[in-house]
Amino acid sequence: MERLPGFRDFYPEPLPSKDAWSADARRYLFDSWRSVARRYGFREYDGPPLEPLELYTAKSGDEIVGQLYNFVDKGDRAVAMRPEMTPTLARMVAAHQRNYPKPIKWFSIPQLFRYERQQKGRLREHFQLNADVFGENDRAADAELIALLIDSLRSLGLTEADFVVRLSSRNAWQEFFTRGGGTPESSYAFFQVIDKLEREQESESAAKLASLGFSLEAVKGFIAAAQPTEELQQILGNLEARGLKEFIKIDYNVIRGLAYYTGPVFEAFDRKGEFRAIAGGGRYDNLVKLVSGGRVELPALGFGMGDVVLMELLRARGKLPAFTSGVEVYCLVEEESRRPAALRMVQALRDAGRAVEYPLTPAKPDKQFKRAMELGARWVVQPEMLADGTFQARVKELSTRQERTVPLSELVASLQAV
Ligand code: HAM
Repeated sequence: MERLPGFRDFYPEPLPSKDAWSADARRYLFDSWRSVARRYGFREYDGPPLEPLELYTAKSGDEIVGQLYNFVDKGDRAVAMRPEMTPTLARMVAAHQRNYPKPIKWFSIPQLFRYERQQKGRLREHFQLNADVFGENDRAADAELIALLIDSLRSLGLTEADFVVRLSSRNAWQEFFTRGGGTPESSYAFFQVIDKLEREQESESAAKLASLGFSLEAVKGFIAAAQPTEELQQILGNLEARGLKEFIKIDYNVIRGLAYYTGPVFEAFDRKGEFRAIAGGGRYDNLVKLVSGGRVELPALGFGMGDVVLMELLRARGKLPAFTSGVEVYCLVEEESRRPAALRMVQALRDAGRAVEYPLTPAKPDKQFKRAMELGARWVVQPEMLADGTFQARVKELSTRQERTVPLSELVASLQAV
């Protein structure tokens, strides 16, 4: 049986093939994301992977709605696998925001599902670090989030030579659009043309813009000028004070495809432009109101950082560490008569927090040694019988080949001391 196209198996290292996905690398990535989010004071939340279809229709935008994995369940409910976390989060926050002091700063690492055309950096499931802030209008919150995004990538060993955050604002485009005579009903259609500008034929973009009363030249001129608006200057100033300005570029090509963004928006890309977006986000001050049927109003902002593109980038730049089994101690069972004593040692070491491996069934000692080396264990230990029938432990340090014997009762402490 084959797995479905666009879905992944994650294997422990060493990987069975060059294009296999590493469960160790995934754990490393998630640990790193969690630790940075914690440093920024974000709390972890989670939600259901299956949601009412209605949560997405009209809220996320046509593109994502067209990519939904949706079906009717056995209770006749129209449901969808979550294609993104933001609507779920808006629903959760709307339901219980009163219980939490503002600003609410939450993060999550959901697996998301989109029935996309498969291409490099795009699969039908992926994981995303989502970090969002609710209840804060000040631009300081936008800067704080962008700083978190930057540090999430820096903690993985990436520098300003590796990636850039392209900062823009829907407000800037909205002003441009209104100044040019655009009407509120057609502003999202206009945003969508801008969103596709870098991917679509010029003639096609020009035709779409003309139908909205705009020229491609005017749009291109606005992008080329890259004049930061007042709100973007505030964000830049804040990031400059942290020493993070080098990571930012004002770039009005970015406008974001999703329907709900209302203010500053941003996307992170590799500097060389070889990969698709690593992350994207921005302000969405109306979504909580929309999802709660007008009951709750709360300004919001956040970003999502995907694991697929990021992993491709880390691999390409040689930034992933070597992953080992994590086994620290290998317990040799030289003779089956010593197995009960060996099991006692294994249990004691594991109780003390050591990662211990041993042969489940009889095996030649040289094979066991080989296995200990493969696992990268630091110590090989084994029980040795004394003349009076009791046991002591023989400990070998694999890197130095030094051996010593210790009473069984001191084994745990003797490894801890080193
Ligand atoms: P998004 O731009 O759709 O935003 O996704 C964010 C990131 O997830 C992308 O930059 C990309 O790295 C990754 N990604 C998206 N789709 C796929 C896919 N099919 N395969 C692999 N990776 C993918 C959102 O989802 C927003 N909800 C983010 C957000 C949170 N905005 C505010 N809060």
